[in-house]
Order: sequence, then structure tokens, then C-alpha cells
Amino acid sequence: MEKREFPATIQAHLVVLRKHQLEVAPTMFDYIEKDRERLRQFLPWVDFTKTLQDEINYLKMTHEKWAQFELFDYGIFDRDTDTYLGNVGVHSIAWNHERCELGYWILGDFEGKGFMSDAVRGLEKTCFEMGFNRVEIRCSSLNQRSASIPKRLGYRLEGVLSQDSIEMGRFRDTLIFGKTKSPVCPSQPA
Ligand SMILES: CC(C)(COP(=O)(O)OP(=O)(O)OC[C@H]1O[C@@H](n2cnc3c(N)ncnc32)[C@H](O)[C@@H]1OP(=O)(O)O)[C@@H](O)C(=O)NCCC(=O)NCCS
Repeated sequence: MEKREFPATIQAHLVVLRKHQLEVAPTMFDYIEKDRERLRQFLPWVDFTKTLQDEINYLKMTHEKWAQFELFDYGIFDRDTDTYLGNVGVHSIAWNHERCELGYWILGDFEGKGFMSDAVRGLEKTCFEMGFNRVEIRCSSLNQRSASIPKRLGYRLEGVLSQDSIEMGRFRDTLIFGKTKSPVCPSQPA
């Protein structure tokens, strides 16, 4: 498929996704500071985000990668209150193979309210509408909350990569969840 930009705004049911604005940096950094211990368990970049300037640099990097069709990272906002909740994004994009991966995090205060499932559902819908054939979600086997999202949204657990990464100083397995446009591979003999 041809490389092209994702929409800057995506409406889901409970949330709206917006391409990052630099203005969100102080709030985003404040959330990381507030929730550092929880977030760093599964997100390696948290330890490298030490100052507001690091956050600003991250947001600028997302704009560059957006323009290069490599990363489409969004802030998640409550549709009712417009409160910023966390991030969801499309990365590891293989345009030639019509495949991409989704990643996400939300502030602990907003966990367990269905916001992330809604955000992922909305972004996934956009991926398929844009022409992607396969969407992947990968997470640590120790991260049951994260694994619940693809399970809830009908992804198939397709594999486990044994001792794939070192997280918090110990090896962990990676779960790979996938969803395809059609459950049957078109080139597979019947
Ligand atoms: C992983 C993470 C994003 C999951 O977020 P979450 O808040 O649990 O996800 P949801 O918002 O979809 O919440 C689902 C829960 O809300 C409940 N819920 C409430 N209202 C709901 C609604 N309208 N729709 C769907 N679920 C709803 C569900 O029952 C579910 O509860 P359960 O966990 O007891 O089954 C979050 O835990 C997180 O940010 N963790 C730290 C960072 C991280 O690990 N990121 C992923 C790295 S791979």
C-alpha cells in the first residue's frame, strides 16, 4: 500500500485521539512524574524521560516520524471533559506488507474505565479503513492488564517469544496478538 498520513483526529465513542500538540508536554510530563513507578514496569522509555525538555524532545520526534510515515502517536482525550488521559500510537509500520503495531499507556487515575479499549478500537478501525491488512499488539507476558485489551477486542494470541526482552533487570516473554481484515488468509489453499 502507498505510504500516507493518518488523520490528525480520530473520534471514538468515549474518547477522541489527537495528533500531539507541543502544548500537552507539561501535562504529559506531569503524568509521567506522578505515575513513574507504575509506568516504568512495562515502558522502558519512562526512565529516560527525566525532564520536561525530554518530553518536548519526544513530542518533536513524534512530529518528525509522523512526517516520515513511521510513527503516528496520539494523545487520548475524554470526549465529555476533554481531559488528556494518555497516549496511543501506531508504530513498526510495514507499508509493503500492510501491517502495523499499536502501543498505549494511560494514567493510573483513568485506568479501568474502558477508555483504552475504546481508543484502541478506534485506532484499529482507522488502520483497517486506511488499507492495513494486519494489526498487531505485543506486550509482556507479565502485563495482564495490557494483554486484556487485545483479548477484549477479539485479537488472537498468535505466539509467545520466550525470554525476548530484559525488563526491570529480568527476562520476560512477549505475547503477540494479531487481528487481520479477514480471518482466512486469501492465498491459503482451502
Ligand atoms: C495497559 C493499560 C493501557 C490498560 O488500560 P485499562 O484502563 O485497563 O484499559 P481499559 O480502559 O480498556 O479498561 C478496561 C477495564 O475497564 C472496564 N470498563 C469500564 N467501563 C468500560 C467500557 N465502557 N468499555 C470497556 N471497558 C470498560 C472493563 O470492564 C475493564 O475492567 P477489567 O480490567 O476489570 O476487566 C493500562 O493498564 C496502562 O497504561 N498500563 C501501564 C502502561 C502499559 O503497560 N502499557 C502497555 C504496554 S504493552
